[in-house]
This record gives sequence, C-alpha cells and structure tokens, in this order.
Amino acid sequence: MKLIDGKKIASEIKTEIVAEVELIKKNGGKIPHLAAILVGHDGGSEIYVANKVKACEEVGFKSSLIRFEDDVTQQELLAKVHELNLNNDIDGFIVQLPLPKQINKQKVIEAIAPQKDADGFNPVNIGRTVIGLPSFVSATPFGIIELLKRYKIETSGKYCVVLGRSNIVGRPLSILLSQKGKFADATVTVLHSRSNNIKEICCMADIIIAALGQPEFVKANMVKEGAVVIDVGTTRVKSELTKSGFKLTGDVKFDEVATKCSFITPVPGGVGPMTIVSLLKNTLLAAKKEIYK
Ligand code: GUN
Repeated sequence: MKLIDGKKIASEIKTEIVAEVELIKKNGGKIPHLAAILVGHDGGSEIYVANKVKACEEVGFKSSLIRFEDDVTQQELLAKVHELNLNNDIDGFIVQLPLPKQINKQKVIEAIAPQKDADGFNPVNIGRTVIGLPSFVSATPFGIIELLKRYKIETSGKYCVVLGRSNIVGRPLSILLSQKGKFADATVTVLHSRSNNIKEICCMADIIIAALGQPEFVKANMVKEGAVVIDVGTTRVKSELTKSGFKLTGDVKFDEVATKCSFITPVPGGVGPMTIVSLLKNTLLAAKKEIYK
C-alpha cells in the first residue's frame, strides 16, 4: 500500500507557483490577485478564508478580503460582485459559502463573471467542463485529478465509483474522470444516498472516491484488493484522543481499508491540502487568461 501524500504534493505545487510569480515579476507582468467575499462570522468560513488569504501571501499573490455583515442584502452583495467583475486589478474572486438565508446563493454564483470564477461554481464553467472545453474546475476535483497525475495512477478504462453527487465534488469529478484524455477515460458510476447495492458496486471498483461526508462509511468489505481509494471526507468527530476534543475524520475506515489498497489518501494530509493550492492554480490561470483566451 502506498500513501498519497497530499501535503507534500501541495507544497511542491506551491513552490512551482512561486517560481511562476517570480517569472511574471521578472518580466514586468501583473501579480495575480485573488479576492474573497466573506459574509458574516461563521467559524468554519472565517478559517477557510483566512487560510486562502495566507496561501496567497505564501506564493506571492495579491489578495483582498471583502467583508459584509450577515444582514447584507442580495442587492448589496450582487453590486459588489458586479464591481469585482469590472475591476481589472482583480483576476479571480470567490464568494465564501454558506451565505445567509436572505441571499439566493445561485443568483450570486451566476453573477460572477465566468472568466473570474476561481471556484469554478458558475454554471458556465460547469457546462464547459461537461463538454470538454477549457474551464475553471472547482478546487477539490481539480486537486484530486492532480494527485492521480502526480502519482501516475492509471485511470484509462478503469472502473471508478464516486460516492456522493455534490455540485462541488462528486458531480464534477465524475465528469472529469469520464472525459477523453489522460488521467480520465474512466468508466464512472456515481452512487448517492438513494443508491441500491452500494457495497456490491464498490467491490467492483478499481478506484473509489468517497465524498459523502459520512465518517468511516467505506469499510474493508466494500473494497477490492489492490483498489485505489481517495477519501474526500472531513467531518469533525468528537474524540477523547485530541486536545481540541475533535478529530478530523474521513469517509473511509482507514486502518482496515488501507491494508487492501494499492494507493490511499489519509485524512488529514490527503485531499485537503490540495484544495487551496487548486484555488491558487485557478487564480494563476485567470491571471494568465489561459481558460478564456
Ligand atoms: N465553502 C466550503 N467550501 C467552499 C469552497 O470551496 N468555496 C467557497 N466559495 N465556499 C466554500
């Protein structure tokens, strides 16, 4: 069994991005600039956004944090999105989710110019992904494909089972894996909360990607000998073993599944660290106008 070290790969990618920023600077180009809109004071969102801003600093990007209180109106938020769409200094931006009840999340996502949609959540980017056009891809699927590439894990002709059909992870990942090309060309099944025969289907998979948000859902008896297992789960589960009283727990029962796998991602340190570097990569692509030429 080989452990997929997302932390190490993420750090290598950051070093590559730093080198690109240096080159841009040397050539007198514009430093990539990511903006983040944060509404309210949700604890998780505060941490995620702070980490995104920190990651920008680490690679030499410019970043801007734009805050609103949680009583912001839809109109105010949309006005800010339009302003950022038109601001030539900002290459890409995100609106951190979740948003308060009075805001129509989909309207906000659709207002983001596809060319600046660093999260890849706008339906234009999702649609372009579906038909194989260059697009911004949401950070977690982008990061998972990058891990498969860097570990040279063959996907062509393989049977991939994606557990979970979220718009952010399961759905786009299933599309990417079934597309024509290297580190794609797979046969893909998406399983979800209404699926029957989950265990039997998982047992046939060469590659399992677990993105359900159900701690330790994937057990050893659901995994074929030699399978590749990618764990996207990050649920905070109460634990007496940690100082914080919580343990970040994946969707895979790691200890028993690992013994059967050819490759497996740990939690933490697997897919998680790839998510932020993928956002940085999207920002760089936006700055270099590589998706929409
Ligand atoms: N909330 C949880 N994950 C994400 C993400 O990747 N992007 C945004 N904008 N909000 C999130």
